[in-house]
Amino acid sequence: MQKTDLMKQIRDELLAGTHLPLYSYRKANNYFPVIGEGSHDAKIMFVGEAPGENEAKTGKPFCGRSGKVLDDLLAHIGIPRSEVYVTNIVKDRPQANRDPKPEEIDIYAPFLDRQIEIIKPRVIATLGRFSMVYVMTRLGLEDILKPISVMHGGLFEAKTEWGRVKIAPLYHPAVAVYNAGMLGELKKDFEIINKAVS
Ligand code: URA
Repeated sequence: MQKTDLMKQIRDELLAGTHLPLYSYRKANNYFPVIGEGSHDAKIMFVGEAPGENEAKTGKPFCGRSGKVLDDLLAHIGIPRSEVYVTNIVKDRPQANRDPKPEEIDIYAPFLDRQIEIIKPRVIATLGRFSMVYVMTRLGLEDILKPISVMHGGLFEAKTEWGRVKIAPLYHPAVAVYNAGMLGELKKDFEIINKAVS
C-alpha cells in the first residue's frame, strides 16, 4: 500500500474512533482529531504532546502560539515546515490542556508508531518530556533516559527495522510562549537537527 493510503487509513480510524478516550470530548466540542501534517517522505519528524484548542478546532498540529514558536525555530535552522512531518502522541485535545494520562498515551501511541513506520524518518525530534519518554522507550533507549533538563539538545541513536534513527530530545516550544527568555536556548538546541541530518 502507498504511504498516502496508509496515512488515510490512520485518519479514518481516528475519525471513527468511538473507543478513544477523548472521542466524546472531541464530539461535544466539534473538535477534530489532529493526525499530523507534512511530507510523508520527511527525513525529520517532530512529535509533540497533544493538540491544544487551536489545533483541535482546525485539525492542524502546532498552529497556535506554540506553532508560531515552532515556525520561528524551523526558520532559524533553515528548514521549511513543508519538508518535515509534524504530529503528536495523543491525537485529540485533552480537556483544558491538561497533561495526557498514561492510559491515553497507551491508546493513541500505536497511531504514532504506525506513522513513524510509514515515514521512516532519519531523525525524530521530540518536543517536550512526554514525547521524549515515549519515543525513547519505544525505540529501546529507556536506560539512558534522564530528565529533559539534562537530555535537551542531545542526540541519540536507535536501531529500527528500517535502519538507524536519531532522536533529538527538545524542549516543548510552549516553554518559550510562557518564558520568552527560553527562545535562545531552544534555538541553540534546534541546531542539532541540522547536524543530525547532515
Ligand atoms: N502542543 C502540542 O504538543 N501539540 C500541538 O499540536 C500543539 C501544541
